[in-house]
Amino acid sequence: MTTDSGAASRDSRPASTEAGRDTYVRIDRVTKKFGAFTAVRQVSLDIRRGEIFCLLGGSGCGKTTLLRMLAGFEQPTEGRLYIDGVDVTDVPPYERPVNMMFQSYALFPHMSVFENVAFGLKQDRVPKAEIRDRVAEMLALVQLQDYGARKPHQLSGGQRQRVALARALAKRPKLLLLDEPLGALDKKLRERTQFELVGIQEKLGVTFVIVTHDQEEAMVLGTRIGVMHAGEILQVGTPTDIYEYPTSRYVADFIGSVNLYEGRIVEDEPDHVRIEVPDMATTVYVDHGIAAPPTAEVAVAIRPEKIHITPYKPLEAENVVRGTIQEIAYLGDNSRYVVRLDTGKVVRVTRPNVYRHDERLAWDDSVWMHWHPSSIVVVTR
Ligand SMILES: Nc1ncnc2c1ncn2[C@@H]1O[C@H](COP(=O)(O)OP(=O)(O)OP(=O)(O)O)[C@@H](O)[C@H]1O
Ligand SMILES: [Mg+2]
Repeated sequence: MTTDSGAASRDSRPASTEAGRDTYVRIDRVTKKFGAFTAVRQVSLDIRRGEIFCLLGGSGCGKTTLLRMLAGFEQPTEGRLYIDGVDVTDVPPYERPVNMMFQSYALFPHMSVFENVAFGLKQDRVPKAEIRDRVAEMLALVQLQDYGARKPHQLSGGQRQRVALARALAKRPKLLLLDEPLGALDKKLRERTQFELVGIQEKLGVTFVIVTHDQEEAMVLGTRIGVMHAGEILQVGTPTDIYEYPTSRYVADFIGSVNLYEGRIVEDEPDHVRIEVPDMATTVYVDHGIAAPPTAEVAVAIRPEKIHITPYKPLEAENVVRGTIQEIAYLGDNSRYVVRLDTGKVVRVTRPNVYRHDERLAWDDSVWMHWHPSSIVVVTR
């Protein structure tokens, strides 16, 4: 299972992602074993020139291992790696057009910020004046232009991380691998740096592969996202693909918040399906066909923001369920509701607080919920 195979809702996917643009990195059936343990399993992936590709997955799923193989610090057990059409599987790290910013981004403690950023350029014997210009440019990029003389121990964690980023960019690699580059930054700085990274990418045209376990970061940064789990790539797609058209229970559940219920296909037509969902004590109507055999064990997934919640019975005949509000979390911009059904299962609903004096829903209120028939994603894996 590599790319988007097994997409139950395939027919409703946008076509924009299918364009065969220029491949810059090709990972071809790569496996990495450490002794008996398989850290990366049969991963095939094409990364396009000039894109920001985000590898997203939980701790220990193999993200760093995959990145280290691209950089050349780790040798695949099986499979081949290509950069710009060249097989680099046996090429040493320093001969690849690649730079990597490590998860533990060790700066040289005895060197100043300036010297840290200049390090790779000095090694490449870049002329002094040019080094000065390029380091200044990089420090400005990460907003540390006044910190050149400081030593790493005189910086905050976030500042050190930005120095590491500047150092990784200074050599202008064609491919930049970043392992959790914004991990040490606080939320605000993280958001700003995310936009800066996108700006840097657009300006320098570098191809980025960014590892993160933060799905929001992957959504903001990534032109495309590869979701990894247990050494495998489960799905590759644009942020919209991954969020709106997950192809497996795992991806649906990992990205964002989701209501996920097991079901059984009771009506299977090319343009619609009906799925019996015991947990909701109802049959869900879906307005598109699915690519699954009638006996498949399917699950229906629906995002909390796609469910309407009202105190009165909606006019729709389909996709309506009733429940009791069990919990409300008021978050200012929106409210989150946990609604208990008669089956004992719960439905999570998010509603934006559009008006200041919004129609109030309270704990223990009896409510109705309904959703559009296109809002359901049916997954088979
Ligand atoms: N040199 C090694 N020897 C043995 N096992 C290793 C080695 N390097 C990594 N592993 C194992 O391979 C798996 C994947 O590790 P990896 O570092 O790629 O995870 P990750 O996705 O980067 O996780 P995190 O988000 O925590 O950084 C882990 O179970 C890890 O313990
Ligand atoms: Mg890691």
